[in-house]
Amino acid sequence: MRCTTMVAAALLVGLVPTLAIGQGDRRTITVEVYWPEGARLLIEGREVASDGPMRRFVSPPLPPGQYTYTIQAIIPGPDGPKTVTERVDVRPGDFESIDLREPGRRPIGDVEYEPTPQVVVDAALRMASLTARDVVWDLGCGDGRIPVTAAKTYGCKAVGFDLDPERVKDSRARAQKNGVERLVRIDRRDIFQLDLSQGPTVVTLYLLPRLNARLLPQLRKLPSGARVVSIAHRMADIPPDQHIIIPTELGEFDVYLWKAETLRGPGRR
Ligand SMILES: C[S@@+](CC[C@H](N)C(=O)[O-])C[C@H]1O[C@@H](n2cnc3c(N)ncnc32)[C@H](O)[C@@H]1O
Repeated sequence: MRCTTMVAAALLVGLVPTLAIGQGDRRTITVEVYWPEGARLLIEGREVASDGPMRRFVSPPLPPGQYTYTIQAIIPGPDGPKTVTERVDVRPGDFESIDLREPGRRPIGDVEYEPTPQVVVDAALRMASLTARDVVWDLGCGDGRIPVTAAKTYGCKAVGFDLDPERVKDSRARAQKNGVERLVRIDRRDIFQLDLSQGPTVVTLYLLPRLNARLLPQLRKLPSGARVVSIAHRMADIPPDQHIIIPTELGEFDVYLWKAETLRGPGRR
């Protein structure tokens, strides 16, 4: 199914999942688009205003299903205009982010840094039923609040991974400030290069739907008994084992949990 109408919404700051407001079974889809300076922007072949470096587009409330949007930037250059095209596969309720800028002009990682509100971190870790025997890996750890909270509250080991050296520095400083540097390790690593088959018993994510889907082959290697908690975003179309909604000052956050066995699917437990 392809949806052709996307309605431009006011620019908003941050990854705010509550922009997907339910209306019965219908939910909106929010797509944030970054594009190169001076480029023309087209969505589903229709030109949209492209002043400023980023815009958020919010669909009307849509019934459940798969929706694909084609997003293009026509970039002027000395050898004539160049077209960059991205197709984004989304579901009602999704927040997705697309970056059409050249690689050197994008953020270091695959998604902008946005911290999870502490009340959501607390709920997400509670949902995972952590004990001191668990080992938590936060993939894309930002300022380290998830691994530090896990270590401080549950006395477990925790590892945070981030590509951005500033985030790595912040996370290490947070671990030290909270006196949990013996339990918390922060590594500057690309999360898509990690072997998840040995280390973690709990993996936490606050990424994007398409990045969760890209991680799925790695997550399927988690040992039985491991849990994956995703803040705000679905995991492909795999129904979660648990789902809670946490109200915050920024709006409501969905938090999902899957057992490793559920991610592997029937017959591959
Ligand atoms: C939305 S923030 C979430 C931060 C933290 N987990 C939290 O919930 O507060 C996502 C983080 O992932 C990092 N990131 C993005 N792509 C990455 C990659 N391929 N490898 C490692 N870190 C990445 C970003 O630098 C950013 O700090």
